[in-house]
Amino acid sequence: MRIAITGATGVLGQEAVEALVAAGHEVTGITRRDSGVPIVEGRGGSAVVADVFDAGDLARAFRGHDVVINTLAHVPVGMSGLRPLAWREDDRLHLEASVAIARAAAQAGARRLIQESTIYLYPDNGADWISEDLPLNVRNQAFRPRVREMRAAVDFATGGRSAVILRLGQLFGRDQHTTHALKATRQGDPILLGKPDTYVTLLHHSDAGRAFVAALRAGSGFYNVGGEPITKKRWAKDLATEAGVDAPAKFYPEITQAIVGTRLDVQRRSLRVSSVRFMSETGWRPTVGPSTPGWSRR
Ligand SMILES: NC(=O)c1ccc[n+]([C@@H]2O[C@H](COP(=O)([O-])OP(=O)(O)OC[C@H]3O[C@@H](n4cnc5c(N)ncnc54)[C@H](OP(=O)(O)O)[C@@H]3O)[C@@H](O)[C@H]2O)c1
Repeated sequence: MRIAITGATGVLGQEAVEALVAAGHEVTGITRRDSGVPIVEGRGGSAVVADVFDAGDLARAFRGHDVVINTLAHVPVGMSGLRPLAWREDDRLHLEASVAIARAAAQAGARRLIQESTIYLYPDNGADWISEDLPLNVRNQAFRPRVREMRAAVDFATGGRSAVILRLGQLFGRDQHTTHALKATRQGDPILLGKPDTYVTLLHHSDAGRAFVAALRAGSGFYNVGGEPITKKRWAKDLATEAGVDAPAKFYPEITQAIVGTRLDVQRRSLRVSSVRFMSETGWRPTVGPSTPGWSRR
């Protein structure tokens, strides 16, 4: 298939390009900058320079492609997410670029849209499992961009077209967030939010990349994509093992956790997310877990 992908130079995008090319697809990576071209080509795709906020520019870039995949995101690292305007770029990408992408994909004649989303829209569900049917906790204005993005993808899925929305688990691997967490663990600084006995659902980048390939086989709808959920205290130990230290990663004190604000507060939630729907529909399976040695270098 001919597949166009936005965010192709990012953590998710690069993995997706490589996995799609390995699966035999012809992949065009969209980047806004000339310096992004060799990054896409290095993963086996061909690159087109386009503005992701301009539906006309995008429609030109998408023409002749069967599928459009949107992996755009710009998540601030660690506590920098508390800074004023820290989320402005990420919000703009979900609120404006994702909408332009869904419209341009339809205009260009693509038959399928695969949209990256996140499990962090679910409410804290304690030790209970979370399936796609659990109502989202998105009433706060901060979630408006992600809701708008979902609507744009659902709107795309009319007239015989399909849209697959992937609610990805917390990514881990070689990215800046995990590197920051490993560094804090080595230094004995706090890094984790929430309570030790609550759940986190992680997704290694390489498995995320393959999930975009699997999503080509899924029917229209929402799918959770993550590994086996683990307790946060287990994750704290896995971080320490990978960081090469004995002491588990530390949790922020309650007093700090109480003032992190809506955007980081989602990371305090207990999210025991089931990916059974995606696995049974597509055959996708996670292959790298937080106890797989060397996961931060793969
Ligand atoms: N579910 C999750 O846990 C989840 C989901 C998504 C991201 N993340 C985390 O978020 C972090 C950032 O992800 P990432 O590294 O993929 O993001 P990124 O590198 O900041 O952005 C991804 C791509 O989007 C494009 N982009 C970013 N900001 C843009 C802007 N303002 N205007 C236009 N294009 C823009 C860039 O492409 P060009 O510069 O080539 O145009 C960039 O390569 C990662 O550490 C990742 O793990 C987590």
